[in-house]
Amino acid sequence: MGKYVPPTVLTNEDLEKRIDTSDEWIRSRTGIEERRIADNETNTSDMAYEAAKEALESANIRPDQLGLILVATVTPDYTFPSVSTMIQERLGAKNAAAMDVSAACAGFIYGVVTAKQFVESGAYEYVLVVGVEKLSKIVDWEDRNTAVLFGDGAGATVVGKVSEGRGILSFELGADGSGGKHLCHKEFIEMNGREVFKFAVRQMGESALSVAEKAGLSKDDVDYLVPHQANIRIMEASRERLGLPVEKMSKSVHKYGNTSAASIPISLTDDLAEGRVKDDDVVVLVGFGGGLTWGALCIKWGK
Ligand SMILES: CC(C)(COP(=O)(O)OP(=O)(O)OC[C@H]1O[C@@H](n2cnc3c(N)ncnc32)[C@H](O)[C@@H]1OP(=O)(O)O)[C@@H](O)C(=O)NCCC(=O)NCCS
Repeated sequence: MGKYVPPTVLTNEDLEKRIDTSDEWIRSRTGIEERRIADNETNTSDMAYEAAKEALESANIRPDQLGLILVATVTPDYTFPSVSTMIQERLGAKNAAAMDVSAACAGFIYGVVTAKQFVESGAYEYVLVVGVEKLSKIVDWEDRNTAVLFGDGAGATVVGKVSEGRGILSFELGADGSGGKHLCHKEFIEMNGREVFKFAVRQMGESALSVAEKAGLSKDDVDYLVPHQANIRIMEASRERLGLPVEKMSKSVHKYGNTSAASIPISLTDDLAEGRVKDDDVVVLVGFGGGLTWGALCIKWGK
């Protein structure tokens, strides 16, 4: 795993000066204290490249060993060339095919599940999956309903074969296009917060339980939960459905806000670096997002 977050911090107090909001409102409704914002010179592909480099180094894989690069993003530099082809060139991953995946905040899970199919079939030995967003460029900074929620960043992983008994035990992907109107990007991000909230609380809990069951496990077998970092109240609801204690849930929403496709890999990278996830832990990753889309993975951690 690897991650990149831009150095510029935007705090709730900074937002108080720009729009009619308060630190107290943002903290109590979302759990967010600050978020990172990329500068004008840093685009989505730059952040994706940094996270990808770190993931390859930590996996000890050379770029030319990659068979495929999947970049989950809804904020690409351009419609085309894709972010995945841009980083393919910068990494020197000359043997890799490349495509972007558009599933909003569930994009990283969609990417990893896709990667798993290619690795399992034997088509590719290693697939790089990056979740990356520069949401600051599509946020309406005058709209207090959305401006307080989002941040920029990237997280990445290399998917490859692992030893018997470890790896991805089960997955779930889903979509409900009828809810697309509740969270969309036309000129800016538009959101019906209450509808998204209700959907997220239900779906995150159900999907987290469902992947554990599909892996033949009960919720008591789950050691750690990495939910999409959208809102602490939504995250807590999924943790409670699994009956896990507070310290068994990944939490970085207070530092980075909602970084969409990047939130799960950013949070998991920090968990690994800080020793919260260890080899042979059963880890559940679960996300939801615009589309509406959702996805979950149950993983026995370790190479
Ligand atoms: C957005 C969200 C935090 C709002 O929380 P909530 O509990 O529904 O909000 P409440 O009902 O307590 O408050 C809504 C009120 O706060 C106001 N409000 C909205 N944003 C505000 C802000 N940043 N500061 C102060 N007030 C704000 C609204 O205008 C509304 O006022 P009204 O009642 O006078 O119309 C919540 O709905 C949510 O998290 N939804 C899911 C969003 C999400 O995760 N999106 C990303 C998906 S990937």
